[in-house]
Amino acid sequence: MATISTPDYLIDQAKRRFTPSINNFPGMGTLERRLLRTEFPQRALAQPPADSDLKPVMGDKGLPVLGHMVEMFRGGPEFLMHLYNTKGPVSFADSPVLPAVTALGPDAAQALYSNRNKEYSQQMWTQVIGPFFHRGLMLLDFDEHMFHRRIMQEAFVRTRLVGYTEQVDTVVSKVIANDWVANDPRFLLYPAMKQMTLDIASMVFMGHEPGTDHELVTKVNNAFTTTVRAGNAIIRTGVPPFTWWRGLQARKLLENYFEARVSEKRGSEGNDLLSVLCRTEDEDGNTFSDADIVNHMIFLMMAAHDTSTSTATTMAYYLAENPEWQDRCRDESDRLGDGPVDIESLEKLESLDLVMNESMRLVSPVQWAMRRTVRDTELLGHYIPSGTNVVTYPGMTHRLPEIWTDPMTFDPERFAEPRSEHKTHRFGFTPFGGGSHKCIGMLFGQLEVKTIMHRLLRKYRLEPAHPGRTQVWDYGGMPVPMDGMPIVLRTLR
Ligand code: HEM
Repeated sequence: MATISTPDYLIDQAKRRFTPSINNFPGMGTLERRLLRTEFPQRALAQPPADSDLKPVMGDKGLPVLGHMVEMFRGGPEFLMHLYNTKGPVSFADSPVLPAVTALGPDAAQALYSNRNKEYSQQMWTQVIGPFFHRGLMLLDFDEHMFHRRIMQEAFVRTRLVGYTEQVDTVVSKVIANDWVANDPRFLLYPAMKQMTLDIASMVFMGHEPGTDHELVTKVNNAFTTTVRAGNAIIRTGVPPFTWWRGLQARKLLENYFEARVSEKRGSEGNDLLSVLCRTEDEDGNTFSDADIVNHMIFLMMAAHDTSTSTATTMAYYLAENPEWQDRCRDESDRLGDGPVDIESLEKLESLDLVMNESMRLVSPVQWAMRRTVRDTELLGHYIPSGTNVVTYPGMTHRLPEIWTDPMTFDPERFAEPRSEHKTHRFGFTPFGGGSHKCIGMLFGQLEVKTIMHRLLRKYRLEPAHPGRTQVWDYGGMPVPMDGMPIVLRTLR
């Protein structure tokens, strides 16, 4: 039976509490409150052409060097709501690191996602994560993007998802039963979930049977984690030993690993995503080169990992806090029983769908979408010159009182008929994005998360380790529970 080592637990807790960050440094809460009241000197991003009736986008620099990082990392969507209420949907963050227009609310999101006149490229993403996720699908633009997306789409059709789901279930059933620790308030769900989604990727993405190639898989998983972390680095230059440099080294290891693996997998009949990508072709018979597969695989691992981890962790949190919803979801799972799951059986877990939507609404795994204008553009009556970074924040739209009744309350029923609050605006609920770059792995991710939750609910009752404590999230990248999310798993069977 798995147990928790007390020294490891204490070291981990100390690291969580004492590693300095904007979220836990003494006095940061007071500074944040003061900053929210401060009126910084405003300037126009650019003057609109004289013959137009467009308005300039106004904004400020915030603090020297830090810009608005303190408010953003601590408040996340709450800070953006503050901006929306005080500055309106379009304003300018004149940050020294990453200046960008903030485009808030569903109308701004619609302009960016639907991109009707092809004014917005993905090049802001490239600026932020390009060195590590070079030529990933999300970083490609326009015709080239469509060319790659059409080939990749074939790897995500229903017949393929059937095979992936079976493999996901194999890993999840084993890990939840054998590796997770029951009846112990020191059990931290977030790191356990993160490890499990890596284990899933090792089998479903890379084709390693559980328990095999342990050393190689661990090396690849560590390299992958380092690469992902590097995208959030504050010192953004390849100087040893900083995070950015470590990310570049790790990327090299991943490239070497996948190059070797592609040669092995070409011509194989495997059902893992890598084997499938080696075979997929679009309707015209176009296929991926070896280099394309390497780039796509590294990006896909990143796109799938933290997102699914975050969604499943948030769902477990809300189910532990809301036992009536936990019972309702478990009733549906009990009807399925412990047999192998497939797409049809998972589709019957309708309450889990409601809970998933509500959890992604309240804690959206991908808080923002980044774009860059490729020509001078109009956005909600404002003038935006070519080459400007523009960011929209679904994480904030998901809390707008214009769209959601009592937005901060956990109320999954809002997604069911007749309320269907998510249909109030086409771009009011976009946890998977929208338009031509909408998440290609949406169904895969939903099936993976539902498999995890189904197995979890069948085996354990979820209880908060510290009832009544307010959950604090770090919004520096994807939302991360600051305390690692302690949850007590009470064994049911
Ligand atoms: C719950 C889990 C997930 C969430 C919340 C999520 C969310 C998103 C979002 C919001 C975008 C669009 C970003 C933008 O427009 O800037 C996106 C794109 C993408 N996602 Fe996901 N994702 C999830 C799971 C997955 C999985 C499991 C995979 C792959 C197996 C995946 C692969 C991708 C890819 C390749 C793109 C880029 C699509 C393109 O540019 O055409 N995602 N995802």
